[in-house]
Amino acid sequence: MSSAIDNFLKNPLWLAPMAGVTDRAFRTICIRHGAGITYSEMVSAKGLQYGGAQTFALIGPAPEEQQFAVQLFGSDPLCMADQAAVVERQLGERLAFIDVNMGCPVRKVAGKGEGSALMKTPDLAAEIIARMADAVSVPVTAKFRSGWTEETINAVSFAQRLEEAGAALVAVHGRTARQFYRGEADWSIIRQVKEAVSIPVAGSGDVWTREDAERMQKECGVDAVLVARGARGNPWIFEGVEPTQRMRLETMREHLDLFVGFEGDEHLTPLRAQLAWYLHGTPGAATLRRELSFATSYEDFAGIIDAAEKHLSREGR
Ligand SMILES: Cc1cc2nc3c(=O)[nH]c(=O)nc-3n(C[C@H](O)[C@H](O)[C@H](O)COP(=O)(O)O)c2cc1C
Repeated sequence: MSSAIDNFLKNPLWLAPMAGVTDRAFRTICIRHGAGITYSEMVSAKGLQYGGAQTFALIGPAPEEQQFAVQLFGSDPLCMADQAAVVERQLGERLAFIDVNMGCPVRKVAGKGEGSALMKTPDLAAEIIARMADAVSVPVTAKFRSGWTEETINAVSFAQRLEEAGAALVAVHGRTARQFYRGEADWSIIRQVKEAVSIPVAGSGDVWTREDAERMQKECGVDAVLVARGARGNPWIFEGVEPTQRMRLETMREHLDLFVGFEGDEHLTPLRAQLAWYLHGTPGAATLRRELSFATSYEDFAGIIDAAEKHLSREGR
């Protein structure tokens, strides 16, 4: 077992990569609440090669991420290996490992043979891992699905293939690419992968509560659990704490301030959804969500949080 990965398995609740969600602000919040490791959003290897400033920004860790994982996507083994080396040079000690996205189902990605489409070309997927593992000194890992479709479930043989190619860990999301995020995740395939390989395995899919995470560890024997949608608006999942209404509002403000600190205050639209997630189950959430959906400036967002806090105080909470 790679000792570098081993270190992160001591705290096995990890924040899964989520494009458009796990930006530096949200990752910082999850680190503060005890996430074992955080990943970048998926980053195009080609985008890095062509030097896009926006793509490059995605591989930057937040100050509180002493180490973090970068996830690359692409299908050209040479480009992936070259860009892995660029990422390693750029991040130095801050880079925990490099993950390869073999699970993204969206047409823009899979339609080009990247992301989950690599599950249909295991030889190519293995070559990508082998070349990347040669090009960098940090561990190379992969995240994939149960298979491309229900009829072609191949996570077990795929994982074995990637292990032979030099993957240091595999993360398995128990849905097919065709399922996208619908239906229930099949945890039995995660257990089968765990039983079939000797490298560490992380499980993903339908981890909504801390209890789900513990159940996945027990039922599948996984070495780490990836928390994805269950962490949105609920970073307390990492420490197993039930937040009060006041804690939710305080964290909304913390999220707003971190986001503006990292990204500036010009394009705050992503915060409409991100902050609304903290309102899940809150009385009056519908009204607050509606207000958030029109917010554009820092003052708009802060004003909504102020009003919600005043409302709580009036109720004596
Ligand atoms: C909005 C969104 C963006 C995602 N982006 C990525 C990504 O960039 N890379 C990746 O490997 N998985 C990505 N995923 C998949 C998650 O990491 C996770 O495997 C999946 O959501 C299943 O877990 P869950 O059912 O607990 O949400 C994304 C999921 C969502 C909902």
